[in-house]
Amino acid sequence: LEERRTARFQARIDADEKIEPVDWMPEAYRKTLVRQISQHAHSEVVGMLPEGNWIGRAPSLRRKAVLLAKVQDEGGHGLYLYAAAETLGVSRQEMVEQLLSGAAKYSSIFNYPTLSWADIGAIGWLVDGAAIMNQVPICRCSFGPYARAMQRICKEESFHQRQGYEIMLQLSRGTPEQKQMAQDALDRWWWPSLMMFGPPDGESQHGAQGMAWKIKLFGNDELRQKFVDVTVPQAEYLGLTMPDPDLRFDEAAGHYRFGAIDWDEFKRVVKGGGPVARDRMKARRRAYDDGAWVREAALAHAEKKRARRAE
Ligand code: 3HC
Repeated sequence: LEERRTARFQARIDADEKIEPVDWMPEAYRKTLVRQISQHAHSEVVGMLPEGNWIGRAPSLRRKAVLLAKVQDEGGHGLYLYAAAETLGVSRQEMVEQLLSGAAKYSSIFNYPTLSWADIGAIGWLVDGAAIMNQVPICRCSFGPYARAMQRICKEESFHQRQGYEIMLQLSRGTPEQKQMAQDALDRWWWPSLMMFGPPDGESQHGAQGMAWKIKLFGNDELRQKFVDVTVPQAEYLGLTMPDPDLRFDEAAGHYRFGAIDWDEFKRVVKGGGPVARDRMKARRRAYDDGAWVREAALAHAEKKRARRAE
């Protein structure tokens, strides 16, 4: 029976049907979606930390308002994604505990420090730019709630990318010191942004299965290449130098060839060894503990409302 059901399930995937939470699905499909969607949600929530650090230091009221809006968006992205994962039978509590205990991962990119205001520009331009490349395909993935969450998220990511690029444009046209800040941020965020796309396809543990189930529609290397091809001309427009001496345009192929990625650094950071990984988790645990009274109050209030309704 299980085999017949699995075959019918795969036929639905191959016919580009959307799988909804109430549909039968192989346990492995459910498990890998809970893994990927919850880690995606953790990335959104942890991603608020590096930028939150600069809300109080923004150089103008407008920049402050835009950054506030972006950080609020990221919190909302975490909410949609945790909600999408909950449709698969996992509780928010469980997912948060997996993050806080270190059992679950979040995107490597958020283990790097934001050292200057230009980093906020580089994050919007490069990190949200890379996220758009990696997430637009997920709008068409086989699991309904994940695909639908992505549609709203991708619209907001475009604003994130645009506001970041505008910061970089303003700095690169500013004083020599401001242009140097933008160059320094590009130097520090370029390679970690390429690592966001995951390992080379040949070393991806979940890639092949993700493609078979149409959770992943393109390989990591193809999306990484697309991101490089789009971003290098943007850096040239800013008048900044790409931190890759091997970068050159391959006319015949129509793609940029780029230097080797430091996969040892990637593996170290993915395992939680990034420069500020410990601070990120400490901040997450502190926020969780400091927020306990809010959760208790909300539950007590809900209980009172329920009791009043029952009278
Ligand atoms: N950062 C952290 N963990 C990573 C990683 C990275 N860059 N690349 C791989 N990993 C982890 C995987 O999560 C997996 O962990 P697990 O098996 O222990 O749960 C393990 O390494 C092996 O993964 P794979 O080798 O199979 O890597 P994939 O081919 O799956 O690629 C991925 C990783 C690109 C992150 C893929 O999982 C993916 O597309 N996920 C959905 C999108 C996502 O999570 N994006 C996060 C971007 S940050 C963001 O969106 C915030 C925005 O506001 C900027």
